[in-house]
Amino acid sequence: MHKCNCEQPLVPIMVEVIDIKEETPDVKSFFVKNIDSNGVPFNIEPGKLAMVSHVPVGEGMFSCTWQEGDEYLQFAIKNVGLLTGELHQIEVGQKLGVRGPYGNGFPVQDCKGKNMLFIGGGIGLAPLRSFIKYCFKNRADYGKIDILYGSRSYADLCFKEELFELWLQEKDTRVHVTIDNPEEGWGGHVGFVPAYLEEINPATENTIAVVCGPPIMIKFVLQALEKMGFSDEQVITTLEMRMKCGIGKCGRCNIGSEYVCLDGPVYYLNQLKQLPPEW
Ligand code: FES
Repeated sequence: MHKCNCEQPLVPIMVEVIDIKEETPDVKSFFVKNIDSNGVPFNIEPGKLAMVSHVPVGEGMFSCTWQEGDEYLQFAIKNVGLLTGELHQIEVGQKLGVRGPYGNGFPVQDCKGKNMLFIGGGIGLAPLRSFIKYCFKNRADYGKIDILYGSRSYADLCFKEELFELWLQEKDTRVHVTIDNPEEGWGGHVGFVPAYLEEINPATENTIAVVCGPPIMIKFVLQALEKMGFSDEQVITTLEMRMKCGIGKCGRCNIGSEYVCLDGPVYYLNQLKQLPPEW
């Protein structure tokens, strides 16, 4: 059942951290449950975000993973500043606030019947993962699935259990993992994501590519996809880093007259190309 503070959209729902998992040296997953109902504070579709508040430090917008049947929300948060640094210090049992969901989310319905190519770098796998899990939960609705993911080093790869075990067991699914530089003990691919993408050279026919990662990776991945023959209508990305207040109030997400928080953050490339080139 959907639960939210619809009458008071800025008032967070209080949640308790029920588990914390260290994904990498600077990324932790936080699993939270509604304190009052002991369940999920609200349902949230793939690609949408939620505001997490940690009193008195502040609040921040993070992508969130939830699937039908889950009684918790999961946030994978990278330690990049004051708020995220403080969040990395908390322990199980800590109370936080959450509000949301925000954003349009991935077009999971539009993509039905398509082959899916997910391309991620670093913490960019977090939002993609919610869509990937959705595809696996609704496996018959999607064609072949390719997941291409890269990070600086083995230690920096997020969600290793899924990458190296769980997703490999899924039907018609290939997982391609790469790290930037060679390192002892790593027998997998070495090199940057855009170059690996060209090596894999996935079929373009009836395929949708979904891209999320550092801006420099996205830039070169988009170029590689174009070179391989993907049209702008076949490429989706998310500008979720622009999401601040999430409700059209702070004015920090504008691209031209567009409010990313209200109209995005997920866009097809042909939609993005109609905006001023500030993304
Ligand atoms: S994020 Fe504040 S106006 Fe869009």
